Amino acid sequence: MASDLFNGRLEDVKFTQLFVNGSFVDSLSGKTFQTIDPRTGDVIAAVAEGTKEDVDAAVQAARHAFDSGPWPRFPGSERGRILMKLADLIDQNAEELAALDAIDAGKLYRWSKTEISSVANMLRYYAGAADKIHGEVLKMSREFHAYTLLEPIGVVGHIIPWNFPSTMFFAKVSPSLAAGCTMVVKPAEQTPLSALFYAHLAKLAGIPDGVLNVITGFGPTAGAAISSHMDIDKVSFTGSTQVGREVMQAAAKSNLKQVSLELGGKSPIIIFDDADVDKAVELALIGVLYNKGEICAAGSRVFVQEGIYDEFEKKLVQKAKAWAVGDPFDPNVQQGPQVDKKQFEKILSYIEHGKREGATLLTGGKAVGNRGYYIEPTVFINVEEDMVIAQDEIFGPVMVLMKFKTMEEAIKSANNTKYGLAAGIVTKNIDIANTVSRSIRAGTIWINCYFAFGDDVPFGGYKMSGFGKEHGMEAVHKYLQVKSVVTPIYNSPWL
Ligand code: NAI
Ligand code: MG
Repeated sequence: MASDLFNGRLEDVKFTQLFVNGSFVDSLSGKTFQTIDPRTGDVIAAVAEGTKEDVDAAVQAARHAFDSGPWPRFPGSERGRILMKLADLIDQNAEELAALDAIDAGKLYRWSKTEISSVANMLRYYAGAADKIHGEVLKMSREFHAYTLLEPIGVVGHIIPWNFPSTMFFAKVSPSLAAGCTMVVKPAEQTPLSALFYAHLAKLAGIPDGVLNVITGFGPTAGAAISSHMDIDKVSFTGSTQVGREVMQAAAKSNLKQVSLELGGKSPIIIFDDADVDKAVELALIGVLYNKGEICAAGSRVFVQEGIYDEFEKKLVQKAKAWAVGDPFDPNVQQGPQVDKKQFEKILSYIEHGKREGATLLTGGKAVGNRGYYIEPTVFINVEEDMVIAQDEIFGPVMVLMKFKTMEEAIKSANNTKYGLAAGIVTKNIDIANTVSRSIRAGTIWINCYFAFGDDVPFGGYKMSGFGKEHGMEAVHKYLQVKSVVTPIYNSPWL
């Protein structure tokens, strides 16, 4: 069983070096850092610590692969064939990959396995897209033939967060590979292991050397070297709003590289009186507890209409108290540890802040056990909309529960946030569902469901949740640029 394979022993982790120009290498400084098992706080492995010099070497390899290598020049079908092969290799190694994410990020092993098969399918979606990238013929005027070419943007830098090490890696890597770009990927320092395994599989699949480089290391060094690099054409970032701002500034101050940002959220779930209360409770709990709340689209603000509020609150507490927190390899557990000590302490300090602000702790609020980074499912009531716990992204298993009277009031409260990533609506009334979905300023609206992601469904923020979509063909277009070509047809005054 995979949990025995990965007990935090160094010999179990196969890939711990940087992947540059098709080879695993030590960092140029020779330095390493430790990646930690959040179940215990123990070290899993020492991983190469890449810095600016390593990013430079990786960019050089990616630039060479872009300017003179086969990848951007292959017919799309050939890129597609190789991506299909990579998808099969991922399926063949799914247990090991799932175990790496589970031990590195504290993700439930069984959910991690589902995630790995989803990323294989995401790759297949983009494999199919690789030969369907084309421009259009334009009308312009009778005297000219005008058309557009869609060209890969060049060398891309991807900066990945730790909450979904595999999904976030492939949400960026697959569409940019399909587009014909070459790239440097920096996984989060908390979760470097699966990305290095993917680099190994990419080589086996036949992705040419230099096309996909992986530099493990820290944000202010390796990450900042990407966003400020003079020879990277685009940076795609997912993470905190604060660092998103820094990435954009670095891009502006260096070579004006294009930027796409997928940042935080404080997404509302609005539950109307006509909802099935038991199902709504399930939906709201999953909405905030999935991946222990470490998910950008978490439905962390729950608004319940007054007619069902009391019943909802009662049932929510029962279910939250029964929620099983523990070892992510245990098949009965519903919630593993937070990713690291820093995130664990941040969440607990938000909980303390909520109490000081005058909100009431309905359930939870404490750490679980005395080893590792486990936190109880936590629900606050008596919350004012402008409290810090109702405005900041906590990124943990913490819900704020609020009561509303009218639809108009719910819309106003739901929009009272700087973020706009997602929203949930629970109602059987189609007029309410339609009105609310058009009134919420957020990039994704889930009606009577939550976290319903699809490979072909664009995902990304409004407002301070960022810009630039992931998933769907929209994501391929982020890595393409449009070239217009114009030529006279007859009687040209130009020649
Ligand atoms: P972070 O934004 O610092 O980390 C995300 C990625 O950015 C990592 O790969 C990191 O190494 C890199 N990075 C950090 N500083 C950088 C810099 N100056 N230049 C370039 N890259 C840099 O997020 P952190 O500190 O791990 O988490 C803090 C909060 O951010 C979380 O509590 C959560 O609220 C939010 N977050 C949101 C995510 C999302 O999915 N939207 C994912 C991860 C965190
Ligand atoms: Mg870790």
